[in-house]
Amino acid sequence: MAEKHLAKTRKFKAEDINKILEIEEQASPKTICSKVTFLNYADILPDTFIVLESGKDIVGYIIFDLTGHIHSTAVKQSYRRRGFGKMLFMHALRWAHKGLWLEVRSRNRGAIEFYKRLGMKIVGKIPNYYEDDDAPLCVSEILSRRKREKHTTFSDLSCSY
Ligand SMILES: CC(C)(COP(=O)(O)OP(=O)(O)OC[C@H]1O[C@@H](n2cnc3c(N)ncnc32)[C@H](O)[C@@H]1OP(=O)(O)O)[C@@H](O)C(=O)NCCC(=O)NCCS
Repeated sequence: MAEKHLAKTRKFKAEDINKILEIEEQASPKTICSKVTFLNYADILPDTFIVLESGKDIVGYIIFDLTGHIHSTAVKQSYRRRGFGKMLFMHALRWAHKGLWLEVRSRNRGAIEFYKRLGMKIVGKIPNYYEDDDAPLCVSEILSRRKREKHTTFSDLSCSY
């Protein structure tokens, strides 16, 4: 059993890929992001594709960009509700000085509760953002709508939770 205080964040390395895919498969079995997608993220966002390591295990990951857009995050199922998701989120928040923002499936109630708990607000909904679902757009309070609209989103790489 992993202890919170022993977990540490570091940049993704290519050898982590199978563990990331395992986490992804549990998080999103029907709409899994491919190996190629994750490796593309590693190329494009090498400093902000972050894994959380506990001993030899990878317990979760987060991918974000410097506009504060969270592209994807997940925690291994057996490690959930221990504060690891929050640790990853706080790591991203420290980097993204203007706040964080993301899209999430309307049906993903757990993640929506998680983001609300971390102080994010739903500021709108993007109809049909996913093939089969709308996406509430969540932002942390310090990012203004104007700045968010200005930013590029790497939408060709977005994961589909
Ligand atoms: C969302 C996710 C990353 C949260 O990770 P986590 O490590 O379990 O979250 P934390 O333990 O840091 O949770 C912090 C708080 O958020 C809230 N929270 C987290 N998951 C929740 C859930 N499923 N339902 C309700 N509230 C939740 C709780 O208030 C929790 O505090 P508590 O456990 O003391 O009550 C994880 O559930 C996950 O990987 N889900 C699948 C992938 C996914 O949906 N990613 C987000 C896509 S945008």
